[in-house]
Amino acid sequence: MAKKRILSGMRPTGKLHLGNYVGALENWIKLQDEYENYHLVADYHVLTTDLSTDEIYQNTLEMVADWLAAGLDPVKSPIFRQSQIKEHTELFLIFSMLITKARLERNPTLKEQVRDLNIENLVYGHLGYPVLQAADILLYKGDAVPVGEDQLPHIEITREIARRFNTQYAPNDPVFPEPEGMVTNFARLPGLDGHRMSKSLGNVILLSDDVETVRQKLRKAVTDPQKLRKNDPGRPEVCLVFTYHKKFNPGEIPVIEKDCRSGALGCVDCKLNCASKINQMLAPILEKRKTYEKNINLVKDVLSDGEKKAKVIAQQTMNEVHQKMKMG
Ligand code: TRP
Repeated sequence: MAKKRILSGMRPTGKLHLGNYVGALENWIKLQDEYENYHLVADYHVLTTDLSTDEIYQNTLEMVADWLAAGLDPVKSPIFRQSQIKEHTELFLIFSMLITKARLERNPTLKEQVRDLNIENLVYGHLGYPVLQAADILLYKGDAVPVGEDQLPHIEITREIARRFNTQYAPNDPVFPEPEGMVTNFARLPGLDGHRMSKSLGNVILLSDDVETVRQKLRKAVTDPQKLRKNDPGRPEVCLVFTYHKKFNPGEIPVIEKDCRSGALGCVDCKLNCASKINQMLAPILEKRKTYEKNINLVKDVLSDGEKKAKVIAQQTMNEVHQKMKMG
């Protein structure tokens, strides 16, 4: 049986943080043998939050270097830029006819962004953000989309558009699958201050942070505010560092929980332990990243390879779309 296909992507905002890793990238890497994979750099989507394009290319290279360093294998998982495959914009245009403005205005991710980023004058492209994302996914007929939890509303819109296209133009022989979102338990890893991890909030641990930086950052992380002294009893359920232990140090969870509650374990030691577990996890990634930092052409080659492969699939799908629409 043919493997199912994954299509996922991220906006190129530069170096990745642990939230990006745990929420999506780690899953992409885990699934890359089981599925056929395509991963895109959403360099048009990023314009919705920053119109300046001066850093997009550099940010793309940094992000893709992180993907590769973390273990994404470009042979199994072609990597490409959305902007280089014109079919994305073409399918986006067709899809924009198949969804109402009211439906897009109800998108909770949009509402959240309008609030968080203080957007006053929403641009047309921002409203259409999930329509472009639907084109990204359906152009490759993605069956599964491993993403962070905040993206699930966009997957739902993608399913609606796929259904709408199929009913309208291909009732007997559907062109598009209805893709499933896949989220992990840690789809939303909190940042060092307990809020969602985000570079704009300055509360991130980067995938490329060195040992000392991770230690320093952990030292400042918030813990149970009622645990003021080493021997005060703590409440792991409200402690951010405990959440990190759950992810990066699951084996010691029972001991940490017991010793925190009893007051035997102080926050300083607990944080040092946590930092060392995170550093252990990051060590091979840091090592591998050096190869790409020394020779950024390796990353550029990955993109141009991936773009060739993506183009083939994109053109096939568009031919099919045009035929079904009697525009072939
Ligand atoms: N909107 C996604 C994000 O911000 C990025 C993205 C663009 C994406 N196109 C995609 C994710 C297609 C999955 C599939 O994280």
